[in-house]
Amino acid sequence: MVDALFASSEALLVMRNTIARSPREAAPVSSVDDARASYVFARFRRQWAALTGADIGADKRRVVERRLGPVMRAHDVSDLFELTLLIERNGNEALIEEAIDAMTAGETSFFRDRAPFEAFRARILPELMAARGRERRLRIWCAAVSTGQEAYSLAMMLDEAARELRGWSLEILGTDISGAAIETARKGIYTHLEVQQGLSTTHLLRYFHREEENWRVNEHLRARVAFGRFNLLSSPAELGAFDVILCRNAVTSFAPEAKRGVLERLAGLLAEDGYLFLGDAETVDEAAPCFIPTAHPSVWRRRARPRPRLSLV
Ligand SMILES: C[S@@+](CC[C@H](N)C(=O)[O-])C[C@H]1O[C@@H](n2cnc3c(N)ncnc32)[C@H](O)[C@@H]1O
Repeated sequence: MVDALFASSEALLVMRNTIARSPREAAPVSSVDDARASYVFARFRRQWAALTGADIGADKRRVVERRLGPVMRAHDVSDLFELTLLIERNGNEALIEEAIDAMTAGETSFFRDRAPFEAFRARILPELMAARGRERRLRIWCAAVSTGQEAYSLAMMLDEAARELRGWSLEILGTDISGAAIETARKGIYTHLEVQQGLSTTHLLRYFHREEENWRVNEHLRARVAFGRFNLLSSPAELGAFDVILCRNAVTSFAPEAKRGVLERLAGLLAEDGYLFLGDAETVDEAAPCFIPTAHPSVWRRRARPRPRLSLV
């Protein structure tokens, strides 16, 4: 079936005609195979970028095949071409979700890079508290939260400020494109190695308990964070406005156009005086007009939107 689909592809026919104009001029089989593989991988990369935003390098075919091999075998998909067609036609939701889980690198840790969290606690939280004194409400979104450590780090910081925040409504939402990552985040169960990354002994003892050989976030902290699946390429309007958005180390591999789209949508969701946190090596360059730099290099403040002018006729 796959070969039939492949043979019906217009692009492939063009390519075949170019490679072998007549039977006598036929190119060696290996170069035809190479051309087919390059064509299929280029089509896969385009499709993957449309699905997730990630711009996979043209030299990453073997890496992709290695990561997706087990998923394709489990779903009886014979090769990358069949998988690409299924993604194009949105033909198998479970398969696509598993492919996303296999492809997304969810590297993260508690209080990752530390300095942005210190900036949040020392400057941004007090400033927002002063500005929101009347409504007493703060909404924070970790927009590519992976397995949850980033959101729980913020929850611990807010818990430590509990006295100042008494009577406030605090919401922390953590989302990610990977369902498997979100499942782990919801459970809040981490290995010994994971809790050793970024977590102080005080935090570990105050906010975690042992569960068999792992550590689990205490119930009262888990209850303060909501997790869900969300693709940054979708429209986030239904999530409402946020005072702080963290989108750290997620759009690094996006093509500039896709990154610009994500940053503009995030700006649209930030409150007038809201803040955006990116990863340490990331910038807002693609959507610079939407943001103002702050004293902290990976934190931006949203630029106020120009008010529509009233024209009197
Ligand atoms: C390297 S992790 C970063 C986790 C955390 N923000 C941090 O900095 O430690 C990147 C995360 O971005 C997520 N991601 C990638 N593309 C995404 C998309 N289109 N929508 C939502 N999440 C995405 C991945 O699943 C992964 O969990």
